Amino acid sequence: MAYNFMSADEAARLIKNGDVIATSGFTASGAPKELPTAIAHYAEEEHKAGREFKIALFTGASTGDSCDGELARAKAMSFRTPYQSNKDLRKAINAGEVNYIDAHLSQLAQELRYGTYGQIDVAIIEAADLSANGDILLTAGVGNAPTYARLAKKIIVEINDMHPKSILGLHDLYEPSDPPYRKEIPIFSVKDRIGTLTLKVDPSKIIAVVNTHRPNEVGKFTPIDETTAKIGCNVAKFLASQLKSGFIPKEFLPIQSGVGNVANAVLGFLGDDKDIPAFTMYTEVIQDSVIEQMKKGRISFASGSSLTVTEEVLEDIYGTLDFFREKLVLRPIEISNNPEVVRRLGLIALNTALEADIYGNVNSTHVVGNKMMNGIGGSGDFTRNAYLSIYSCPSIQKGGCISPIVPMVSHVDHSEHSVKVLITDQGIADLRGKSPKERAKCIIENCVHPDYKQLMWDYLKLTDGCAQTPHSLKAAFALHNAFNETGDMRNVDWSKYE
Ligand code: COA
Repeated sequence: MAYNFMSADEAARLIKNGDVIATSGFTASGAPKELPTAIAHYAEEEHKAGREFKIALFTGASTGDSCDGELARAKAMSFRTPYQSNKDLRKAINAGEVNYIDAHLSQLAQELRYGTYGQIDVAIIEAADLSANGDILLTAGVGNAPTYARLAKKIIVEINDMHPKSILGLHDLYEPSDPPYRKEIPIFSVKDRIGTLTLKVDPSKIIAVVNTHRPNEVGKFTPIDETTAKIGCNVAKFLASQLKSGFIPKEFLPIQSGVGNVANAVLGFLGDDKDIPAFTMYTEVIQDSVIEQMKKGRISFASGSSLTVTEEVLEDIYGTLDFFREKLVLRPIEISNNPEVVRRLGLIALNTALEADIYGNVNSTHVVGNKMMNGIGGSGDFTRNAYLSIYSCPSIQKGGCISPIVPMVSHVDHSEHSVKVLITDQGIADLRGKSPKERAKCIIENCVHPDYKQLMWDYLKLTDGCAQTPHSLKAAFALHNAFNETGDMRNVDWSKYE
């Protein structure tokens, strides 16, 4: 089939106001770059001409600034799901300009198939290669590409030659059947491959092909500091103790590791701890520290939905593909985060909390209860189904003005029933087998920063102390109120709540 090759600006004009667009990739990896920027510029032209122009955008997770950032700044987005981490989009969401649905990443593909969200007009797929009969070789991230490409009425392919054709073999693409015909997903070990190497689409749906040469836009991590180092050491120490006690089998279990600076640092420490044997990963994002530990022989295999690694690390992988090909697999998010597989494989899930409370509930998403940070991402897919779910966070943020451990979380993403261990730079709270009152004592003693410990004990004195989960509804958000009013949670005045 002869495709219509055109510039990104020409292809952008194929998009109409109100179109529902779905993009490949997971994080900036595998997400299209050239075309979303061109759509943003086209939207600006339309706005200048006094015409409405906004699209609805479905992705795998976050994208690069060339997509979420450009579209948000151009005010070209009306709707967005399931996850983002761009500062300008975050601003637009929290200003009420973009209708955002924060969703479990593993569920979106099936929800689209079930019909929850209506139809997709155009899927934009980043490719390393495209054959005449519609075989697309994806790049460094998969996300929901198989479902989006199949459901979309039209497809635009963005061929990015930063990704060599020799990456053929990295992907494993599989879409489950829907109920009542769904069977088990036949992954019994992290390395199992169950699908295809390329994405097969109906070539007659491909309305345009755009060529580009754009890097992956994965930002650098904040260097490890004393706090993240302590958290990392505590996680490694805890897992080593669980291995010694026999709770974790001697073969060890696959690790899932969350996104962000803390998660990247934690994984590095885990890899460096010689009391922990070399391990495998069944996770969603493969970050820099995974590749570093793989080269050291400490991680033997990683399954994920994207290589969310910095530019130098991606070049290193592509330059030594013979080494990495047998150690990596990239899957659709529906499979990399699949609850059935997570429970079967017995993952150790390591995620980061924005805020946790003294009873073990975790807020991953909302700053002071109402402002969206990023989204729940895959943390819910893993937390609820893991063999062991661990949350970590620093014991203070913003120079001590915020305690991420509070009496009651201002928003709940993961409930006390799913969170099994809480770890900060101060220490480890093993919540397994503990009632709420025992959990509160354990968390305050082990995880809360010294500046906030007495404040937490004082809070408990305001409760009747006997109920199943002692709370003073009047005072539960007193720390948040003090932060909103004075910029520092330590200024809480309990006498106002007696
Ligand atoms: N209140 C207000 N701000 C807070 C806060 C709190 N309780 N806790 C953290 N922050 C701020 C930090 O100060 C920092 O702000 P800055 O960017 O202005 O410096 C920012 O949030 C990020 O904090 P940091 O400590 O650098 O954490 P991180 O990069 O490890 O990210 C999450 C932490 C929770 C935001 C991130 O892990 C996330 O989005 N998680 C949800 C999705 C998820 O878990 N996905 C993985 C599934 S596989």
